[in-house]
Amino acid sequence: MQPDHQKLSEYYAVAPDDIALSDIDTARIPAHVSIIMDGNGRWAAKRGLPRAQGHVAGVDALREAVTAGVRLGFDVFSVYAFSTENWRRPKLEVDLLMGLFAKTLVAELPLFHQENVRLELLGDLEALPAETYRVFMRGLDETAGHDGMTFALAVNYGSRAEIVRAAQDLARLARSGELDPDDIDQDLFSSHLYTAALPDPDLLIRTSGELRLSNYLLYQLAYTEFYVTDTLWPDFTRWDMLRAIRSFQSRSRRFGGV
Ligand code: IPE
Ligand code: IPE
Ligand code: MG
Repeated sequence: MQPDHQKLSEYYAVAPDDIALSDIDTARIPAHVSIIMDGNGRWAAKRGLPRAQGHVAGVDALREAVTAGVRLGFDVFSVYAFSTENWRRPKLEVDLLMGLFAKTLVAELPLFHQENVRLELLGDLEALPAETYRVFMRGLDETAGHDGMTFALAVNYGSRAEIVRAAQDLARLARSGELDPDDIDQDLFSSHLYTAALPDPDLLIRTSGELRLSNYLLYQLAYTEFYVTDTLWPDFTRWDMLRAIRSFQSRSRRFGGV
């Protein structure tokens, strides 16, 4: 999507020393940006606060990131909010996160309407608590007609589970005779992933310095550019988004060619 230049320069008006809007080419904004939002717990620990406070602060960072994405003209902005492995955390923290997802989505629906953002959900939603599931379905329903940026929230998402599920779907179709195994190609396979409706990410950002994927989009990230920052997720601002895009624009993407 083409950014609205007036709104964009207002949004990025008061620049810090090391980065400005003029450092990026607004005609070459990555179409799909994805973020592994990590470091909420460490952010809280640094301040002597309970981990829950880090997650609450993380919501503010996410609101800013969504707005920055809209201003910059992303087609798709996806974020990893809860992995299939995050159920291993203490029940209190899991319950808090599930409650926070529901509460935040309800509170932010006006922003989705105002900015014409469409919600997508990636993951095994049926395993979520009933209230979270209900609110998510409402969010999908209420934003289905929006044709601005797509905001894809990965919740109870795990890439290995996603790939296994796609294989099971295809195997069932083959067994019932609806599909010839020889017709399975990369496009068909992709269409059975949670991300079926989305292009692959162009840029993946991970906050808090970890150099791993933690079971995120293993199939879809084949040719994605990575950007890792030590900034903890609650501290991530519109300027960090710009720094990531500046780095992205300095790369040469070859896709295996020359
Ligand atoms: C990311 O922050 C949020 C979720 C995984 C839900 P963490 O909670 O993983 O924070 P750290 O990595 O422990 O600092
Ligand atoms: C990845 O972060 C998952 C999300 C950000 C939702 P984790 O904090 O769960 O990842 P690990 O455990 O450090 O690999
Ligand atoms: Mg973490």
